Amino acid sequence: MIVTGGRPLRGRLRVPGDKSISHRALLLGALAEGTSAVRGLSGGDDVARTRAAVEAMGAAVDGPAGRITGGRARLHEPADVLDVGNSGTTMRLLAGVVAGLPWLTVLSGDASIRRRPMSRVAEPLRAMGASVDGRRGGEYPPLVVRGRFLKGLDYELPVPSAQVKGAVLLAGLGAEGETVVRERVAARAHTEELLALAGADVVVEDGGLTTRLRPSALAPFDLDVPGDPSQAAFWIVAACLVPGSEVVVENVYLGRARGAVYDVLTRMGASIEVAGGDIRAVYGDRLVATTVEPHEVPALIDEIPVLAVAAALADGVTAFRGVDELRVKESDRVAAILALVGGHHGDGALTVEGRPALALPPTLHSGGDHRMAMAAAVAAMTVDQETAIEGWDAVATSYPGFAEDLARLCPS
Ligand code: S3P
Repeated sequence: MIVTGGRPLRGRLRVPGDKSISHRALLLGALAEGTSAVRGLSGGDDVARTRAAVEAMGAAVDGPAGRITGGRARLHEPADVLDVGNSGTTMRLLAGVVAGLPWLTVLSGDASIRRRPMSRVAEPLRAMGASVDGRRGGEYPPLVVRGRFLKGLDYELPVPSAQVKGAVLLAGLGAEGETVVRERVAARAHTEELLALAGADVVVEDGGLTTRLRPSALAPFDLDVPGDPSQAAFWIVAACLVPGSEVVVENVYLGRARGAVYDVLTRMGASIEVAGGDIRAVYGDRLVATTVEPHEVPALIDEIPVLAVAAALADGVTAFRGVDELRVKESDRVAAILALVGGHHGDGALTVEGRPALALPPTLHSGGDHRMAMAAAVAAMTVDQETAIEGWDAVATSYPGFAEDLARLCPS
């Protein structure tokens, strides 16, 4: 990928369907008794992996229109290892789904996924009665799950993670008794939202921090997947940083724990308007540094790479506190951000010093991480040069059409 920087981004666009919602729509569609209609699924490879996994277990998924036919009677033991590719969400949510299904499931994926921590799902699923094993006692994939009839669990999340919350709730669907998940810091709420849509007996209390689920059969549902706010963030940040830009991203999901990036950018002085799901950003004054506190990080976990690019061009020193979780994402994103924009890391905090302009080498590297590749592209859009991004194919994980969208916003 070659990015020619220094050209304003102008226009309206739609980004791919929300990735988190797409995974859950496929999984719940596979469990629901009948045919669900889901429009606007993410076209990225991660979601394709979830689709292939539910198909390998007997669900039928029909073309891009997204009709999903599932139900307990259709589902069966997969004949082979389920390959989740690069998708941590697929692996963790699926582990929860299969923990309660009476057969053996083996989950593996690419080299990055095989380095990512899985005890966070293995432990609660074992506490519910599933047998979960993997390398190093279940810490690393491949994961081997022997599904059983489970017992409900009252679980306080040790890591604020929507994937772990989702895994426990999905396992709780067929368990005996109530499953309760307690959060200290709000993570995204897509599992409980979609469970409610599919008719599950789910109640959210304590301002969203406690979710109670009773065993439930799911009914088919109808869903339009809105645009992914984590993908929209790349264009919004780019518009804030490249003089002369004005971008509107249409129909973006802005529910719990997903709009925080826009709040942070607004606090940095960005000119952003949110109206009816559309987000408009207009290039304006130089951004100012901010401090992102640990309790904000779970809602910004996917956006910190691109926010770090904004921080590198803001006036002052921006601190991102409590970012250790970033080290175990698709790549070590703390190291990747330091390599892209410089800065310091210590005591769980990452600090990035703003400067008037970035000095980028002619070639940047994605490190196989889709979000780092797109953050690098945004950095490259701000400099008056051609920058090559190596390992661009990682972007197919979540946003295969990113280069085409860039070409439309910045015609040469
Ligand atoms: C996701 C949750 C987040 C996020 C990931 C998608 C989800 O991960 O980074 O891209 O769909 O539940 P954590 O649960 O590890 O925070």
